[in-house]
Amino acid sequence: MAKQDEIRKVKPCPRLEGEIILSGDKSISHRAAILNSLARGKAEISNFAWGRDCLATVHCLKAMGVKIGRKGSRDSASLLVSGAAQDGLKEPADVLNAGNSATTMRLLGGLLSSQPFLSIISGDASLRSRPMRRLIEPLRSMGAEIWGRGEDSFAPLVIRGRKLHGIDLSLPTPSAQIKSAILLAGLFAQGDTVLHQPVPSRDHTERMLKQMGVRLENSGNLVSLTPLSSPLTSLSLHVPGDISSAAYFLVAGAIHSNARIVIKDCGINPTRTGIIDALAAMGAKLKIENERWEAGEPLADIVIQSSELTGIELGGDVIPRLIDEVPVLALAGCVARGKTVIRDAAELRVKESDRIATVSSELSKLGAEIEPLPDGMVIYGGRPLSGAELDSHFDHRLAMTLAIAGLVARGETSIRHAQVAQISYLGFWQDLFSLQA
Ligand code: S3P
Repeated sequence: MAKQDEIRKVKPCPRLEGEIILSGDKSISHRAAILNSLARGKAEISNFAWGRDCLATVHCLKAMGVKIGRKGSRDSASLLVSGAAQDGLKEPADVLNAGNSATTMRLLGGLLSSQPFLSIISGDASLRSRPMRRLIEPLRSMGAEIWGRGEDSFAPLVIRGRKLHGIDLSLPTPSAQIKSAILLAGLFAQGDTVLHQPVPSRDHTERMLKQMGVRLENSGNLVSLTPLSSPLTSLSLHVPGDISSAAYFLVAGAIHSNARIVIKDCGINPTRTGIIDALAAMGAKLKIENERWEAGEPLADIVIQSSELTGIELGGDVIPRLIDEVPVLALAGCVARGKTVIRDAAELRVKESDRIATVSSELSKLGAEIEPLPDGMVIYGGRPLSGAELDSHFDHRLAMTLAIAGLVARGETSIRHAQVAQISYLGFWQDLFSLQA
């Protein structure tokens, strides 16, 4: 995203009330676009996440000859995809641009390794500094020819696609992006691919592949996939709301002294609901209603009300289930009574920003007391927060966390580079202000 500097100002309000209709889950949207591009037939994906990240995936697929685009008016449009099963993907004429999106780069990196052409995929400065060796090494063990820049193998990635072979591999980190990249490569490989995860990470790829006719088994930490013998069947779906976006309003409702917020149609896939479990353990008044299913994914409405939170200790298996929600959970910890400890989350250091450093430094400017650790942080809750001049560090999750902090900090909080919220949540600022009406 261009280095603009949009400054947003937030002040406390007497009441937070209303209903949020979430836009589609970003992880599911990426997968729906990619997998339907490989399928036979047409698919219509409603409630697609039209933020910058998923748009980057759509543009990359278009550059490989996929007929893919919007149907309907701008942000409420569906995504229409005509699968390329018959003719196959085409060699892109230019460098593919994943923007800020590691999911785009890593998932497409796996797929491109198995396609019979040369491709180069790059992204913005943040993405070009994120670890890609973890992607390159397992793909190479499947026979892939894929290279990164310098000793650390950063993007741009250069890929000469070829026929791969399946592997039996233990993944060192619980990353859904790496798992999904290998599964995408495995679809076109010779022989089965078997993955052992240290901890189960989000399983949207597995669920969608099964819905599209792939022979895949997953239980506990194990995933095994049989390569395609016939094309994927296209899958039209309504994407469940993004629980990672809901997290900002779950925390807002819990920490505000006079709030009741209803979040509609929120995905509650158990590999993603760590935020609900953590808030419940902190004492949040939260209700899950109207549970149902859409395309193999569970969803529900969530009601959150003002709560008295108490600090907790988080670590181990729950971390991958809430990794993207740690910034806003840290804010909940600042308001809670007592100490909150977050461990086993060193992955935060290699996200869109070093989130252990940026969350600690920005929330501290409001008066919070946070001690950064190599793999997490200790938060001494209950200190009074006062408005300050803050910066998103071009990290969408930090921008939104700081906006919610502004609702409970005395005086005015201003957030620089606030435009980055659009990376994952196009309507964030409108939704935030609608609750204050
Ligand atoms: C994602 C997986 C997670 C998450 C990211 C989205 C995905 O990353 O943090 O926002 O859609 O697969 P890792 O796979 O690096 O843990």
